[in-house]
Amino acid sequence: MDRFEKQRELMKSGFTGDMESDQMMGKPQPPLEKSFPEDLKIIELPTVSGEEVKKRDIFQCIMNRKSHRTFLKEEISLEDLSFLLYTTQAVKEIRGEGYATIRPVPSAGARHPFETYVGVTRVKGLAPGLYHYSGIKHHLVLLKEDPEIGSKMRMAARDQKFVETAAATFIWTVIPYRGEWRYDLRSHKPMLLDAGHLCHGLYLSVEALGLGTCAIAAYEQDDMDRLLDIDGKDEFVVYLSPVGVIKE
Ligand SMILES: Cc1cc2nc3c(=O)[nH]c(=O)nc-3n(C[C@H](O)[C@H](O)[C@H](O)COP(=O)(O)O)c2cc1C
Repeated sequence: MDRFEKQRELMKSGFTGDMESDQMMGKPQPPLEKSFPEDLKIIELPTVSGEEVKKRDIFQCIMNRKSHRTFLKEEISLEDLSFLLYTTQAVKEIRGEGYATIRPVPSAGARHPFETYVGVTRVKGLAPGLYHYSGIKHHLVLLKEDPEIGSKMRMAARDQKFVETAAATFIWTVIPYRGEWRYDLRSHKPMLLDAGHLCHGLYLSVEALGLGTCAIAAYEQDDMDRLLDIDGKDEFVVYLSPVGVIKE
């Protein structure tokens, strides 16, 4: 098998034959969401009603969606950030005594293996720094205040300048065992597909607010993981998308 063929295997469906996953063997399910020490500062987010939406024509939102890489150095409101977090990763329902979460985007087996971090550079009312979003509680946890977060994210994203001019960068990590517990070695392709749905959900929500975003897969894995203080093994960054104010 040459180097391409080896990598291509990941793109194929592994759903053939028998499988014996940890779920099938009765092993305990991993938590639905990551938790943090209780002494960290919590920021309750504004309730999302849908009134935040500026462009209500879904056809126009879908057709006008595009990647934006030029942002004005302006703040976005906490209401807008709340809307974007809620419409991408809020937990709408917990099924079966903590078995699965249902959210605005689809996920294979409703595993939702991602954690959402936000690198805040320009959000009204929030100190610049790194935050974690709880989709169950719809709040942010302040992980660290950092006035340099914009430039640090830019460097970890291979010097892509728009990361620093953005107002807030969504950084999604994966906790692979959430998928592996249920689908074993078949879980990895679906988890990557799920990341695509998640980011596209953000694109459409951003479009509806009249803001801009651009997906990023070209980043330095170790640098980005270190920035988030995660181990790079049981949790690591898979995708990011800086959101900013664009010229109308
Ligand atoms: C998986 C994925 C990874 C991407 N990574 C980057 C990136 O690292 N840097 C960048 O500038 N654009 C990135 N993009 C944006 C694409 O370049 C963009 O979607 C493409 O040029 C089509 O343009 P459109 O989104 O405006 O339709 C990425 C898009 C996707 C879907």
